[in-house]
Amino acid sequence: MGLGREMAFELAGRGFNLLLVSLQNEDLEEVCSEVKKKGVKADFFETDLTIKNNLLELTGHIKNNYNVNILVNNAGIGGSSEFEKTGVSYIEKIINLNIRATVLIIHQLLPDLKKNAPSYILNVSSMAAFSPIGYKTIYPASKAFINHFTKGLNEELKGTGVSASVVNPGPMRTNEYVTGRINKHGTLGKMGVESPGKVANIAISKMFKHRGSFSASWPNRFSLFAIRLLPSGLTLPVLTRAMKKDAGEQKKTPQGN
Ligand SMILES: NC(=O)c1ccc[n+]([C@@H]2O[C@H](COP(=O)([O-])OP(=O)(O)OC[C@H]3O[C@@H](n4cnc5c(N)ncnc54)[C@H](OP(=O)(O)O)[C@@H]3O)[C@@H](O)[C@H]2O)c1
Repeated sequence: MGLGREMAFELAGRGFNLLLVSLQNEDLEEVCSEVKKKGVKADFFETDLTIKNNLLELTGHIKNNYNVNILVNNAGIGGSSEFEKTGVSYIEKIINLNIRATVLIIHQLLPDLKKNAPSYILNVSSMAAFSPIGYKTIYPASKAFINHFTKGLNEELKGTGVSASVVNPGPMRTNEYVTGRINKHGTLGKMGVESPGKVANIAISKMFKHRGSFSASWPNRFSLFAIRLLPSGLTLPVLTRAMKKDAGEQKKTPQGN
């Protein structure tokens, strides 16, 4: 189950009305019906967020129909592949979704968030943000962007009643690709695996506490400490070797994280 779905249930459980967004034909209407059983109002909007006009259409729809005071930017894709062999359209897709969509949606909705303050922005980054990795070059870089962007924005927004937080989850068994990859890990690799439900619970709680940037679980807080302590000359080749193997095993275009 995806992190976005868990975030929706977490917020509905706390009594917040929701507008859910995803691609078309991904059972969003069904998720919306389930969420409503928590006693909240929920609508859905299906769109491809890699297309700029769609983003503007979505934010226009929100401005015209809702009083938004919580914005969760969860949509993101990743995967591993040799950079030179990665298709142009896939490179564009990951940058447009992971970076441009997050930045433009916030940019368009910020006046409304300020108007409806106290308001909360939660961006979803990754533990991958803390180290570059060969054969997974774009994804960690896109998440590092999200970390820097969120921290800068949060500082800029001080005193406005709007806070921006960023969560850095470790691996979670969500989509088929990530689940398959996690299942191949040894005991050590599985130590940092987090449940999407727990990550959603911690992330939403910390978002309301204006906690800035955080990773969700203790094993990953420890990994982060280790990544920061060890020289990248040591960690980068190890991570890259693992990812090279993963990229070699992938038969189709990467879709995971
Ligand atoms: N799984 C992990 O190990 C892991 C670790 C760290 C961080 N993360 C981050 O967690 C977030 C959620 O990922 P997940 O693991 O829950 O994977 P997921 O189940 O594949 O979820 C990805 C989400 O992005 C949406 N999405 C993808 N392409 C889109 C597009 N073009 N337009 C609109 N929405 C689009 C998907 O909507 P649809 O349902 O329509 O496809 C889905 O809601 C991502 O930002 C990811 O980078 C994941």
